[in-house]
Amino acid sequence: MFKNFLMFFIVIFSLSGCENGFEPAEVASENIAGDDSLNPTTTTTVTTTTQPDSSGIEPPQGDQYTLQDIYFKVTNPGVNDTYQWSHSLSGETDQCITQDMGEVFEVFCRKAGVLTVKLTINGSIEYSSVPIQLQSSIEKGEVEFVIKEGTSNGPWNSLAKMITIRVGDTFVVTSEDSTRDNHCMHTSGNAPTEHCPIGAPLSKGESHSFEVLNEHDSSMNPEKVYDHFVDSSATFFVKSVALDGEQLYANNCSSCHGALTSSEMKNKMAWQIQDAIFRNKGNMRDYIGLTEEEVGAIARELQSN
Ligand code: HEC
Repeated sequence: MFKNFLMFFIVIFSLSGCENGFEPAEVASENIAGDDSLNPTTTTTVTTTTQPDSSGIEPPQGDQYTLQDIYFKVTNPGVNDTYQWSHSLSGETDQCITQDMGEVFEVFCRKAGVLTVKLTINGSIEYSSVPIQLQSSIEKGEVEFVIKEGTSNGPWNSLAKMITIRVGDTFVVTSEDSTRDNHCMHTSGNAPTEHCPIGAPLSKGESHSFEVLNEHDSSMNPEKVYDHFVDSSATFFVKSVALDGEQLYANNCSSCHGALTSSEMKNKMAWQIQDAIFRNKGNMRDYIGLTEEEVGAIARELQSN
């Protein structure tokens, strides 16, 4: 990571050329990298003047995503300046893992949101970054179900129709049927609306789209979705997949940490797992693709076994 951090400086240097006001600290960084040739003239320039007025936070460029390192940098560091960084994601201060490297602040978030970074220089001068919209880097799936033309009251759906949807996926129901103009998808009982747009009949060509927010609650039977205007026995089943922490652990962790029941990592919390992955302990960065929910499911197993 430290190497990347130096590379970052070198890129900045080579793109921006020899601008005024680069401080010795940066020249030193360059020397450590052993690549003076990129910017030979600055090695002889030594200025010790702190320039608080021109300081601030240099934000990352381009689109920013979750599950990636995001670097913020002091624009004009002074030799003896001290820096104190903090962050918030959509107003919450404990959502991201951070690493304070002095002039550079690294942030790693699993959730999307609006990221803002604050910098205090020498305990008094405060700067805020522009708010950055962090986009999710996890692709969400889309599951489609089409009610075919002419199905009307026919048995267009049956127990054989099991639709598997993950929490977070979007479920899209479209009616192509003009013989019955108002198919109405609903679930039995007090179904949560995220599972079915109750009271919103589908005319031909219409679609309803909604996000699956929860695993199914079998006490409310919401996994069973009916089409009201077909008949009461015509149902299809929507299954939202529950995460199997035991299986996730077996697939991803047991090869190094042993079987779940005797794991070296018993009682580790989700944040400790995320942190270990983020810091690449034991080359665990390969597991960066595990979602927050998956890490949570593994942690629950580590707590309870
Ligand atoms: C390729 C081998 C490997 C895999 C796979 C692996 N780890 Fe690790 N993990 C390590 C090593 C090595 C360490 C460093 C051990 C240490 O620092 O004591 C470590 C450290 C950790 C730590 C930090 C321990 C601490 O006290 O700092 C946690 C938590 C952890 N692993 C959990 C997991 C979980 C959960 C998985 C599955 C998602 C996993 N690991 C997969 C090798 C692995």
